[in-house]
Amino acid sequence: MFTPDTLKGKSILVTGGGSGLGLSMAKHFAAHGANVAICGRTEDKLREAAKEIEAGKQPGVKVLTHAVDVRDFDAVGVMIKRLVEEFGSLEGLVNNAAGNFLSPSEDITPNGFKSVVDIVLHGTFNCTQHFGNYLINSERQGSVLSIVTTYTETGSAFVLPSACAKAGVYAMTTTLAYEWGTYGIRLNSIAPGPFPTEGAWSRLLPTKEIQEKYLKKVALGRVGKHEELANLAVFLMSDLAGYITGECVTIDGGERLAGGEFNLFVTEFDRKPLKQMFQAMKPKK
Ligand code: HXC
Repeated sequence: MFTPDTLKGKSILVTGGGSGLGLSMAKHFAAHGANVAICGRTEDKLREAAKEIEAGKQPGVKVLTHAVDVRDFDAVGVMIKRLVEEFGSLEGLVNNAAGNFLSPSEDITPNGFKSVVDIVLHGTFNCTQHFGNYLINSERQGSVLSIVTTYTETGSAFVLPSACAKAGVYAMTTTLAYEWGTYGIRLNSIAPGPFPTEGAWSRLLPTKEIQEKYLKKVALGRVGKHEELANLAVFLMSDLAGYITGECVTIDGGERLAGGEFNLFVTEFDRKPLKQMFQAMKPKK
């Protein structure tokens, strides 16, 4: 579906692009012709990540790094201004930077709750509003993609701050998709399931035993490949998706469906004896 020029002429900022899924998306954008900027808190990490992006980019593509904490509204404004100056324009923003940890909700301190909400919800607002203002004031069209989660809808035990913040990001996406549609700005989100990354897995699925149990919930029985998510991001940021806005695309191998009432027959039993049992339950003619 894609060519090396699919994103040609676009410049895209990926927050938290120094590692994990952010870096995978940034690499894929540059490999499909977009200028790419990555931002994050640690300069050294960004520099190393930029080398990886450079190695697979299309000729002529520019790669920039910018050290920033997305919680800092003014610093985000300075970053957007700099990227516009250096690229000439900015067409895309991917809100990927996130924070999360596992904790019983009754034990979370106010500062723990605030830390995650500040990164995920306020950080997304800070980047989206600065980018939106740039687009509106310069009468340009653009696209915002935010990484949410499958538990924005259902909630999830032990990740209360993240669930609250991601639900807010989802609401921001649908709200602005309508409000800013007037300006030709598209906003979409992706809800990823299990894509192994150092940051998320060390915090959320720390042992092999937990990972194996978790995988049992995934209908397709495997984790996602970064390339699969990056391809979806390329599509949503490209003009191929020019009529898609306010949408949330889930990419989780069917994990969100694990709560189906009788799905325990899939996860807890071998299929052959199960089929025999169902056969035995059939009324005899
Ligand atoms: C309870 C915790 C905690 C933990 C931190 N805190 N870790 N509370 N359990 N495991 C509390 C601290 O005690 C402190 O509160 C407050 O949070 C701030 O902690 P700091 O370390 O000072 O803050 P900071 O350096 O800003 O770190 C923010 C962070 C951290 C969110 C806590 O985890 C982080 O930097 N994360 C970024 C990377 C990340 O999380 N990646 C995974 C994203 S995965 P007190 O009261 O003691 O001062 C993701 C996808 C979800 O979001 C979907 C997966 C399927």
